[in-house]
Amino acid sequence: MSTEDSAVATRAAAYPDLDHIYAQCSGPGGLRLAEHLAEAIGLRAGAVLVDVGANRGLQTCWLAKEYGVTALALDPWEDRQDGRPMVEHIAGNAREWGVADRVIAVRAGVPDTPFAAESFDFAYCTTTLEMIRGLQGEAGYRDALGEIHRILKPGGMFGLGEPMHLDAPIPEDLRPYVTRGEFC
Ligand SMILES: C[S@@+](CC[C@H](N)C(=O)[O-])C[C@H]1O[C@@H](n2cnc3c(N)ncnc32)[C@H](O)[C@@H]1O
Repeated sequence: MSTEDSAVATRAAAYPDLDHIYAQCSGPGGLRLAEHLAEAIGLRAGAVLVDVGANRGLQTCWLAKEYGVTALALDPWEDRQDGRPMVEHIAGNAREWGVADRVIAVRAGVPDTPFAAESFDFAYCTTTLEMIRGLQGEAGYRDALGEIHRILKPGGMFGLGEPMHLDAPIPEDLRPYVTRGEFC
């Protein structure tokens, strides 16, 4: 993330416990990335968002708390660390963060979601689609994108965070969290 982005990330800076954040987020950037995307797509209170591949739902809960959205957190898998369905972690985090009334965990993934067309004002997805592309190839990636497009309202906004190579040094505070996961 650039110096410019760091300066914008004021809400995320109020949550400095990176050990906790990176124990709960598998994607790079954690809450900083969530804030960057939320600002970029103009997230607003009262809107309904779908988080595709929410993992333990930390970013979802943070978006619900900081931006006042109602969020559907989708994740189809079990947690590789403890074998519990991700949706259990999401529900637990939602209670812990005081947003259980606005974060709904749904055990589903793209492209097989249970939602009607044009259900959401916003879609949010970090480091899930690239993983799907790695596992299912280009066709799986396109199907997943197509489903997100289908369930977004016309004029809805999609914030997508995917890994990329930046020719810039890794910020010092993030350096301890740089890992190579099994899907790299
Ligand atoms: C690399 S993690 C990213 C998690 C989170 N968005 C983050 O940035 O920390 C990918 C997540 O996608 C979930 N997942 C796997 N297949 C999926 C699918 N078809 N649709 C949605 N999510 C999926 C996995 O369970 C995992 O939690």
